[in-house]
Amino acid sequence: MLKGKTVVLGISGGIAVYKVVELLRLLTKAGAEVHVIMTRSAQEFVTPLTFQTLSGNPVHTDLFNLHQEQEIGHISLADRADLFLLAPATANLIGKIAQGLADDLLTTSIMATKAPVLVAPAMNTNMYENPIYQRNEKILAESGYHLLEPASGELACGWEGKGKLPEPGQILAAAESVLVPKDLLGCRLLVTAGPTREELDPVRYLSNYSSGKMGYAIAAAARQRGCTVTLVSGPTNLAAPVGVNCIRVSSAAEMRDAVLQRLEEVEVVVKAAAVADYRPVQRAQQKMKKTGDELVIELERNPDILAELGERKEGRILIGFAAETERLIAHAAEKLKKKNLDMIVANDVSREGAGFDVDTNIVRFLHADGRMEEFDLMSKKQVAHQLLNRVAVLYKP
Ligand code: PMT
Repeated sequence: MLKGKTVVLGISGGIAVYKVVELLRLLTKAGAEVHVIMTRSAQEFVTPLTFQTLSGNPVHTDLFNLHQEQEIGHISLADRADLFLLAPATANLIGKIAQGLADDLLTTSIMATKAPVLVAPAMNTNMYENPIYQRNEKILAESGYHLLEPASGELACGWEGKGKLPEPGQILAAAESVLVPKDLLGCRLLVTAGPTREELDPVRYLSNYSSGKMGYAIAAAARQRGCTVTLVSGPTNLAAPVGVNCIRVSSAAEMRDAVLQRLEEVEVVVKAAAVADYRPVQRAQQKMKKTGDELVIELERNPDILAELGERKEGRILIGFAAETERLIAHAAEKLKKKNLDMIVANDVSREGAGFDVDTNIVRFLHADGRMEEFDLMSKKQVAHQLLNRVAVLYKP
């Protein structure tokens, strides 16, 4: 979303300026062209040279600097921005914007811009809770500014509480979110992710290598595009994406219950989870002991959740995944038909960079009408957006 976009990064003076160095690195890594404006006090914390070196562009500091104005004037900066990002935004900066003051380069440029403005506040807890500050924040929100909530924890001033600048990765995700087209606004989507665990006894289980990355990427991207998202997740180490309703389950049976309970509430189901096809017939109540050289475990079939959804489709958009190690297209096409799907995402999990526990995937989309689309290696985030582009075509509000 940030590739080729111009981001004006406004930095005001607080200790959290050091975190913005990493934020700038993430923005440029994501392909954004970044122009930095620093207030006088921001320059007391980190020098403009750091931001100039990392952005590859001159840093703007002064409204009345003839040289800077000649190179790229403040109105031009305001005009060319696709996104104005304020991090950290101090109580003073937010107060000035709320009151319509434009007495330096940063506040003047903010007032002049027509781009969306994303504000990442950071300050002492007492300042944050001050009713005057809260009123100012409300003025910004009502004026269409996008406000991030500060994080809680130990602050640089020694206080404990709300007021920390959110982590750079979270600010980046919020920036992408502001820029993503909201083409799925109002759409209710359920996505499953991760593995299931089928317990043998209190300390052992059958499972697979799914990390949940694919399903979580879909949940995050769908949320960015305006969906109301329910994420039914097997056991993973991932934090739920912001704004997503995450339901944690363990076994295939629990996943089935969680999905079916919410089925009536959604128009789209994407099943990225790697569900165990079999489970032990019996789960031992106590830890199983060694009894001989061989152990035979009897397994029984788990319910096929997606096949069940296909039988009671009721106009819903159903998208499945097929993880294969051979005859990718034939197996995926068979599942597409058998489970009554609109589309299936086929990934050959034996290929490097595809499938389980990596940040990328190599996929083909097989459609119910017989079309097939083939893609090169993409990040799972890109796969998610490609998948959602197809949902946007099928979805009829
Ligand atoms: O989680 P990651 O580490 O990011 O890895 C991503 C992934 C490889 C898990 C993902 O890209 C993927 O391929 N998910 C589906 C894996 C799978 O189990 O495929 P399958 O061919 O066994 O199942 C086909 C479809 O039926 C899937 O949508 C699956 O969720 C569903 N299914 C399968 C069995 C079952 N009992 N119930 C189901 O709903």
